[in-house]
Amino acid sequence: MPLEKNELGWDEFWAELFRVRHRRSLQGIAEYDKMVVDFCIQVLDLKQNQFILDIACGAGDHSILFSKNGLKVTGFDLAQSLVDVAISRAKEEEIEVTFYKGDMRDLTFSENFHAAVLLSHSFGFFDHEENKAVLEKSHEALVDGGRLLLDLINPYNVPRFAKTWTELEGGYLLSEPHMLDAQAGMLKGRPATFIDIEDSRLVLMNQDALSNNDIRMYTALEIKELLEDVGFKKIEFYGQNKLPRMPYSRDSERMVVVATK
Ligand SMILES: C[S@@+](CC[C@H](N)C(=O)[O-])C[C@H]1O[C@@H](n2cnc3c(N)ncnc32)[C@H](O)[C@@H]1O
Repeated sequence: MPLEKNELGWDEFWAELFRVRHRRSLQGIAEYDKMVVDFCIQVLDLKQNQFILDIACGAGDHSILFSKNGLKVTGFDLAQSLVDVAISRAKEEEIEVTFYKGDMRDLTFSENFHAAVLLSHSFGFFDHEENKAVLEKSHEALVDGGRLLLDLINPYNVPRFAKTWTELEGGYLLSEPHMLDAQAGMLKGRPATFIDIEDSRLVLMNQDALSNNDIRMYTALEIKELLEDVGFKKIEFYGQNKLPRMPYSRDSERMVVVATK
């Protein structure tokens, strides 16, 4: 008998599958997160009890680590399913973090934070004007001298993603490689299929789940211009999201941008 096919959206299915179940299955992910958080604290020059905003925080992995490092953390994500996981993790670990469901285009903070971060390439989901508005609102959320950190894929060194099969709790995940639309400067979402063994069904991505992962890539020059346009003063670039601080170049693993208000 053929398996039943379901097309499901980002928040109703894929957010939890990718950002929780799949992420947990990645070898060394806890060590990776610790390195990213240590790097952020150092390059953002953060001190105990300062306030940090984790924009598009996913299931809260980094927010929780920032909090364990003595920072006052607010994290938000578009997916309620991820915010729920983040809240229950923080509760389990008896850690105080403010998590809420929110859209980065609707940020309304005003001079509340010493730093804001967009980690794991969570910038560039929208058209150019909306992307710029996210930077504008992030600028507004920072105190004078506050810093914004963007951890981006290096557009000159986009990883060659492969087709992969992964065994996860409840089934198997087949992920297609990312497609790069070079003319549009767009890294397209990775289509995936989940073979749900528990419920004997195939889960496919609907348009919402697919487009949630489309990312407009910016070069260093373009992002610098955008950040300066919205009022950031000092813009620095690093070639990796872990210590030691490495200069940014064509072959760098990442393009990390730190902008000071
Ligand atoms: C690549 S994940 C990164 C998650 C987390 N920062 C990490 O490093 O693990 C991108 C996240 O952006 C969230 N997202 C997508 N559009 C958003 C929006 N408009 N506002 C807030 N979060 C959004 C997704 O739900 C997803 O959790």
